[in-house]
Amino acid sequence: MLARGRVSAVDSLDEVARQVATCRLCPLSKTRTNAVPGEGPGDAKVMFVGEAPGYSEDVQGRPFVGLAGQLLGELLESIGIERGDVFITNVVKCRPPNNRPPRVSERNACMPYLERQIKLIRPSIICPMGNSALSALVGRRSVGEAHGKAIEKGGVLYVPLYHPAAALYDASLRGVLFEDFKALKILIGKR
Ligand code: URA
Ligand code: SF4
Repeated sequence: MLARGRVSAVDSLDEVARQVATCRLCPLSKTRTNAVPGEGPGDAKVMFVGEAPGYSEDVQGRPFVGLAGQLLGELLESIGIERGDVFITNVVKCRPPNNRPPRVSERNACMPYLERQIKLIRPSIICPMGNSALSALVGRRSVGEAHGKAIEKGGVLYVPLYHPAAALYDASLRGVLFEDFKALKILIGKR
């Protein structure tokens, strides 16, 4: 009989998603409607990582399906990539009340799920979107400084990007995001 630990002998993205769906490792489990594990092909070359689900994501149990998601879709389309070709997820899998930023304790509780997803997918490029994902994945603080510039770490190319939601509040970031996606397209072509 296989051990019934949190991580089974053979891990899979479905197993991660199943565990996330019923996870109670942090207090966000009490206020969520649906956990949002993330979605995309198991062999995606590129992974996009946001901060945490918002209202629409919490309702639907899917990542980036609200206004920020719409912009992410446009950005992908602008470089000829379909949403279904990339893996999209968040650092924290449950919506923080009123979309407040996730606490460090919540992020730490949730990170093992993202780490398992990365290990299973083995993407060649990971795009942390916004400061939360940037600091969780690359240990940098300022997406304003890091955006659009690739950082190689452990065989993975990290390409930090502004969070699409930031461009909904500050229109000047829209153009920056489209420019950074052009740079991303070139990097994808080289990997
Ligand atoms: N913002 C995020 O960080 N993630 C989502 O899934 C949606 C909005
Ligand atoms: Fe579990 Fe992450 Fe949801 Fe917290 S945010 S309950 S750690 S899945």
